[in-house]
Amino acid sequence: MPATLPVIPRREGEYWTARQRQMHSLHYVVSYRAAFKPELPDYFIRKFTKAGQVVGDPFCGRGTTVLQANILGRYAYANDINPFAVWLTRTKTNPVPLSEVCAFLATIDWEGSVAEKYPPELLLFYHPKTLQELLILKKRIRETKSPAACFVALLAVSRLHGHSPGFFSVYTMPQFSVPPKAQYRINRKRRQVPEYRPVAPRLLAKAKAALQDNLVAGIRRMSTHNCYTRRDARALREWQNECIDLIVTSPPFLNKVDYITNNWLEHWFLDIDPETFRSEMLQTNSLKEWQDYMGSFLQEVARVLKPGGICVIEAGDVLYRTQKINLDEIIAAALAAAGCRVLRPVEVLVQRQNFSKIAHCFAVTNNSKGTNTQRMLVLQKK
Ligand SMILES: C[S@@+](CC[C@H](N)C(=O)[O-])C[C@H]1O[C@@H](n2cnc3c(N)ncnc32)[C@H](O)[C@@H]1O
Repeated sequence: MPATLPVIPRREGEYWTARQRQMHSLHYVVSYRAAFKPELPDYFIRKFTKAGQVVGDPFCGRGTTVLQANILGRYAYANDINPFAVWLTRTKTNPVPLSEVCAFLATIDWEGSVAEKYPPELLLFYHPKTLQELLILKKRIRETKSPAACFVALLAVSRLHGHSPGFFSVYTMPQFSVPPKAQYRINRKRRQVPEYRPVAPRLLAKAKAALQDNLVAGIRRMSTHNCYTRRDARALREWQNECIDLIVTSPPFLNKVDYITNNWLEHWFLDIDPETFRSEMLQTNSLKEWQDYMGSFLQEVARVLKPGGICVIEAGDVLYRTQKINLDEIIAAALAAAGCRVLRPVEVLVQRQNFSKIAHCFAVTNNSKGTNTQRMLVLQKK
């Protein structure tokens, strides 16, 4: 790192609760790897913006920042290179009332048949009758394309894989799509074969849980003005100059998460071809490449932020080769190296936290796969 790096004040604390599932029920509708808790954007949106202002997330993932912005009466810009993430964000911010979910489900003939090809590996997860129902649902959603159909697709995506009878699948991981070979081993070890899991009642139960906190009309009122884009975060073409008051975002941490392999069942259900965007994903094990990417990204942040606007980047610590690296420091170095003087580092907030559930379930205790601390670098545009 260059010697000229500014010293950035650092504050450590518990800025939001460590308790799980305290925010709006829609936040928890779908699992997504490396998503942050809604409390994180909530904290910064309340701190730095007023109702009616504009919040953006260039790496929006499952849309946590964008949904929370709309819940708090802010407009939002969402971007991600993965069409699944953009779709998730758009659909979560366009919920429909339970009555519309029920009306849509009532139009489906679950006994029908669909002659559609599917990857044979799906039978490692689903009973043939469950799979047939999923194919019927997929076709109906494709034909209808209404907000209710999209929202039901979201509910279906949330039930594709998991560990309890509430999911369509045999026992598997809820947090990500297990690759077929690994699922084959799980099935053999547990001596399990997929049993029939009717689709409609599971969708209905999930709809009730997702919509229990209401606010459907309020979220939709704000989200009609949202902007959703699928671009590389270094070139947010549709985002106008100086249109954003606050960015709250979190880039991929080097190559710690494989967003394509981890979502293969979701991509299948939504007919998303990963080859259309694989090469554009920021996924590298080179720290230099990651830092250079961040330098260009920060130039784009400087373009879209209003003067005085704030950018909060969540970046944890990772194990790089044998060394622990704080990625917020790499981003600060990227800023200096890019010579981007209009963005001023304000502070780094370090959230004290315990290991996440997923870290526990993979026995990650040495910080090699996950991240120990959440570190938020706060920048301000002059
Ligand atoms: C850490 S996740 C963001 C999670 C998000 N904060 C949430 O709570 O769901 C990083 C996201 O960056 C996206 N991404 C990867 N490469 C990208 C690129 N070149 N441009 C824009 N987004 C990219 C990934 O698809 C992933 O959704």
